[in-house]
Amino acid sequence: MPTSFSYAQLAERFRQLDEFLLQHQALWRPRPFTHLHLPWEAELPELASWLRGRSLEDAEAAHNQPAQLQAPAPFPQLAAQATALSCMDELPTSSPLAPDARQSVDVPGRKWQQIQAFGAALRFSETPQHWLDWCAGKGHLGRQLASRGGGLTCLEWDKALVTAGTQLSQKLGVVATHCQQDVMTDSVSSQLDPTMTPVALHACGDLHVRLIDLSIAQHCRQLALAPCCYNRIQSDRYLPLSSLARQSALELTRDDLGLPLSETVTAGARERRQRDQSMAWRLGFDLLQRELRGSDRYLPTPSLPNSWLKKSFAHYCRDLAALKELPEPPQQDWEALEKRGWQRLAEVRNLELLRGLFRRPLEIWLLLDRALLLAENGYTIRLGTFCPAELTPRNLMLIAEFEHPSAST
Ligand SMILES: C[S@@+](CC[C@H](N)C(=O)[O-])C[C@H]1O[C@@H](n2cnc3c(N)ncnc32)[C@H](O)[C@@H]1O
Repeated sequence: MPTSFSYAQLAERFRQLDEFLLQHQALWRPRPFTHLHLPWEAELPELASWLRGRSLEDAEAAHNQPAQLQAPAPFPQLAAQATALSCMDELPTSSPLAPDARQSVDVPGRKWQQIQAFGAALRFSETPQHWLDWCAGKGHLGRQLASRGGGLTCLEWDKALVTAGTQLSQKLGVVATHCQQDVMTDSVSSQLDPTMTPVALHACGDLHVRLIDLSIAQHCRQLALAPCCYNRIQSDRYLPLSSLARQSALELTRDDLGLPLSETVTAGARERRQRDQSMAWRLGFDLLQRELRGSDRYLPTPSLPNSWLKKSFAHYCRDLAALKELPEPPQQDWEALEKRGWQRLAEVRNLELLRGLFRRPLEIWLLLDRALLLAENGYTIRLGTFCPAELTPRNLMLIAEFEHPSAST
């Protein structure tokens, strides 16, 4: 599959994904974590009881590749459709410049590999004159790109990162301007002009949308981004960007926008154990709070410091009930309740595998909305993966170049 997309190809893929997501929203919208029973289970009892019968280890093994699970119908059919609709090729890569090993100092290993991969997949028809690293952190990406030539400005609002970035650039002899800048404010517009090539690696929801809007408004000729955290937005609901998405009946809440991010990369055994315990205890507490409140509804609880997991489960429940201003829990078989929490965790994780089929389709729907907006504004679009998912599940990249009027005649 090519990585260059015409407007018609983008629109066609968007329409197919839109239809798929709309048709099956009853399967991916409700979150197993917050429901004792999911509405779709009554219609698909065989699939539901098959998933509920599996262990936590089974769920863990299938988490990153849910489409490969041999589950009862309609799971395989949905998996095949989801896989076909979310197929994205690897972007062609140029052999990376021999990296300056000194640049990798102070960059976590995985991040350095992502930066290298982003750089290798980045190719523009016009040689960039000036790189603009958007939400740059310490500017590792920008420095790596500027080593090919071109000036560099890094925008970042965290003063400590700006200072550390400035020092690193000086130490490495890279001429760069690190600006402390909130990219959501009006003053950022003056940082973009047609000679700039903005790049954004993993800028969250509103931040990369802001970059796209401003690049269009300021006539930047080319830009590239790898989006992440689609749910980090100010509004409660997703505000579609392109005219096609604005016409879609698909309405997305901030919760829905979290679905593409629900894939976790392999965590260490200790981290995993802690995450599992935290979720099992929450699910156990959820059963208790339903009784205490006499209401069969999920009650959101705040994230808690890890030290809470060192308490006994009974202590944890009593403290969490107090924090949520619930009546004091009566004495009970805490061991049995904790066990039910762990049992629910296994069921939740396995039921999540069905939602997992829609993770990538929704992510690509969102990516295409960004691509379509740029295409509507005269940009040609390349889309694809820039690194394997094991390096980061947010491995999709959009490269946009303003089409020279003579090129289309
Ligand atoms: C996920 S990090 C990505 C950093 C870098 N691009 C990378 O890949 O290592 C997002 C960065 O955006 C910065 N940021 C968040 N909100 C911002 C804002 N309103 N203006 C500028 N930077 C912002 C954060 O401080 C953080 O450094």
